[in-house]
Amino acid sequence: MVKQTVLVTGASGNLGKAVAEAFARHSYSVYGFVHNKQANNSLPANKVIPVELDLLDETACITWVQHIANNNGSIDVAVLTAGGFAMGYIADTNSKAIQQQIQLNFETAYHMARPIFLQMLQQKKGYLFFIGSKAGLDTRHALGVTAYGLSKSLLFRLAEIMRAEAKGTQLVVKVIVPSIIDTPQNRAAMPQADFAAWTTPEAIARVIFEQTMPNATPEEWVVMV
Ligand SMILES: NC(=O)c1ccc[n+]([C@@H]2O[C@H](COP(=O)([O-])OP(=O)(O)OC[C@H]3O[C@@H](n4cnc5c(N)ncnc54)[C@H](OP(=O)(O)O)[C@@H]3O)[C@@H](O)[C@H]2O)c1
Repeated sequence: MVKQTVLVTGASGNLGKAVAEAFARHSYSVYGFVHNKQANNSLPANKVIPVELDLLDETACITWVQHIANNNGSIDVAVLTAGGFAMGYIADTNSKAIQQQIQLNFETAYHMARPIFLQMLQQKKGYLFFIGSKAGLDTRHALGVTAYGLSKSLLFRLAEIMRAEAKGTQLVVKVIVPSIIDTPQNRAAMPQADFAAWTTPEAIARVIFEQTMPNATPEEWVVMV
């Protein structure tokens, strides 16, 4: 049987690593995009094919997506986890701060999503997942995280536009919306919090994997985890 091909960005990050491992465990051919060599070493050897790439380099993203599609015949699933976070009320948020968050959360996703979407449109099928956030979905959660909320909100709008363009095909575009993820960084930043109330990267990875199963509902495009 031909292995399905999965692309994961931010593959050395908390969520990206869990997602890459979840698909690799199910015998998918997984390409894990990492920022640099050091990050590359944190991927499970022999299970995930590492690609070192700065996702802000749009031309390199297009070249890699085309290369992987040509080598494998298709791109079946893409999970774009690369991104980050910044605090700041409006008083603290100048235009540069907004640009930085848009680069980190939107452009890193868009540079991959565009060639992947075009490839999946040709295939007439595929699963493309963005990682949003509550702050990007609902402005009530964006208080104090202005630039972050604005940058993540663009992913929801992009997903809506893609869904409209993909109408009539089996190309599914979804936004996964994690609440607080149980990561070492969040534990260090919020030591008094109830860690048990948080979602683990593995649980989110499982939800994403299940979204690619035949019994998942393609209409439910915003998935809260
Ligand atoms: N953590 C949470 O509680 C939470 C909640 C809601 C949503 N989210 C979202 O969920 C996603 C994953 O979160 P996480 O905690 O797993 O984050 P993470 O551990 O910081 O992982 C993000 C990864 O993205 C990579 N990355 C950033 N810019 C890049 C670039 N230009 N080129 C290549 N790689 C780049 C980072 O690499 P470098 O570190 O080397 O730059 C890092 O490995 C993010 O989009 C985040 O906004 C997180």
